[in-house]
Amino acid sequence: MSSRLDTARPKTAPAGTSRFRPAIHFTAQDTWLNDPNGLVFHDGLYHLFFQNNPYGNVWGNMSWGHATSRDLLHWTEHPVAIACDETEDIFSGSVVVDHGNTSGFGTADAPALVAIYTSAYKAASEHSGTQAQSLAYSTDAGMTWRKYEGNPVLTRDSANFRDPKVFRYQGDQGACWVMVAVEAQHQKVVFYRSEDLKSWDFLSDFGPANADAGEWECPDLFPLAVDGEPDNIKWVLIVNINPGAVAGGSGGQYFIGHFDGARFLPDAGSLAAPAGLASLPDAKAGSAALQQCLWLDWGRDCYASVSFSNAPDDRRIIIGWMNNWDYANELPTSPWRSSMTLAREVRLIAVNGSARLIQQPVLADLGAGEELPTAKDHMNTDTYELRNSAVRLPDAVPGSAQIIEAEILPGNAERLDFRLFGSSDGSRGTLLSYNTASAQLILDRRQSGDTCFHAKFASVESAPVDLENGVLKLLIVVDHCSVEVFVQGGKVVLTDLIFPETENQENWLSAEGGPATILKLAVSTLT
Ligand code: FRU
Repeated sequence: MSSRLDTARPKTAPAGTSRFRPAIHFTAQDTWLNDPNGLVFHDGLYHLFFQNNPYGNVWGNMSWGHATSRDLLHWTEHPVAIACDETEDIFSGSVVVDHGNTSGFGTADAPALVAIYTSAYKAASEHSGTQAQSLAYSTDAGMTWRKYEGNPVLTRDSANFRDPKVFRYQGDQGACWVMVAVEAQHQKVVFYRSEDLKSWDFLSDFGPANADAGEWECPDLFPLAVDGEPDNIKWVLIVNINPGAVAGGSGGQYFIGHFDGARFLPDAGSLAAPAGLASLPDAKAGSAALQQCLWLDWGRDCYASVSFSNAPDDRRIIIGWMNNWDYANELPTSPWRSSMTLAREVRLIAVNGSARLIQQPVLADLGAGEELPTAKDHMNTDTYELRNSAVRLPDAVPGSAQIIEAEILPGNAERLDFRLFGSSDGSRGTLLSYNTASAQLILDRRQSGDTCFHAKFASVESAPVDLENGVLKLLIVVDHCSVEVFVQGGKVVLTDLIFPETENQENWLSAEGGPATILKLAVSTLT
């Protein structure tokens, strides 16, 4: 039975036309979305499946929506790929290209795409009350999907066993499929292996460790070469957590270690709390202990980040859901609700002897390796000194995303302030500040625009950031309802949603308490 929804509506309005609709971030045209699912690159196209309510713009009727892109910036939405029915909701999962036709769903010449998703069973199902892993497959390059009649393929008789991420593992004993999933309420990642995607054997589990005050969801596991050295491979285990993240509510943490084909062994340097923070008497949200964990993002709005399978040139590219379960269903947008983060390429570098992730937004076409023709420069300065004064940057441009690149020597300045989407009297706007004394980057969205729709939305986020040779390097991407900040080459990332007043489009940079030297200030737009 094909699972394509025959009620799929035509998608008419172009991106960027309705209030707050981003220019270069994916939103569903007129429905709700949450987690990215089944990220896979195949035949020159990036596929983004996503948790979608095809019938409304709040969470419910969970199905897999579908969009494709050639450049990870401009997306085309397609009809629903895998739809919920009276027996199950289709929760998060992943897609692999079954090149060896191990599943028998395709042929050796025309491999099937196989989706491994969580069946969240409803009352009408004989499996009611459990979550288990199921398969669907596509033999037309991801455009239509059939559910496998032998579903579910893996159950633990658990109510919270979900979010399978499957990848091909090549070990000394040969190749097999490995599944990474969660027992969400036990703060455990569970590992399984399979030859054919249909029959699975338990390998091991990991957790609780580090942040463990909420459910563990949407895990991912992949190898990367530290500083690009092929002889120094480390494994990155992503574990999203809700609530209990560093900025409150939903967020993503990661561990660095080794995966031997059966178990994940974390490096001691990536463990702030080996048995989990809950095991420490005084570790609470916002505490120093929580800050010692490794975070993908220090903002409020980056959750459920997972990576693409089969990205070209062995690149590892992740996308997150740009939202937070604290207030997700109430965002003031319509008819769509919620967007994805920018795609981010991740790499590992050694920092003081420990491997750490860095992230860079994908702002150029990876396939072609060229700058996007739509990028327009609006400002590019030479070195100059900023003394107790403010410099006006180009205003926000409706319909475009703005990219601000800055390299600044704070010198004797106590604070550097970017005011984004500001009012002309300076009283309103989103404030991104660097505090020299505390070495903190702070994003304050309390005056950013509409914050009233939920009591938890008005907030101030901060992340520890050390200057490097005295310099602060920022790459800020602002796109109608979001600010993503990549700091010191992507060592720290901070993502927040904002809903600015239409009339407030001024951007300013100022230094307080002493002169700062601007080494680079460039502003460009992308549509
Ligand atoms: C994470 C999550 C997943 C689940 C999905 C349901 O945001 O709760 O654990 O599969 O959303 O929509």
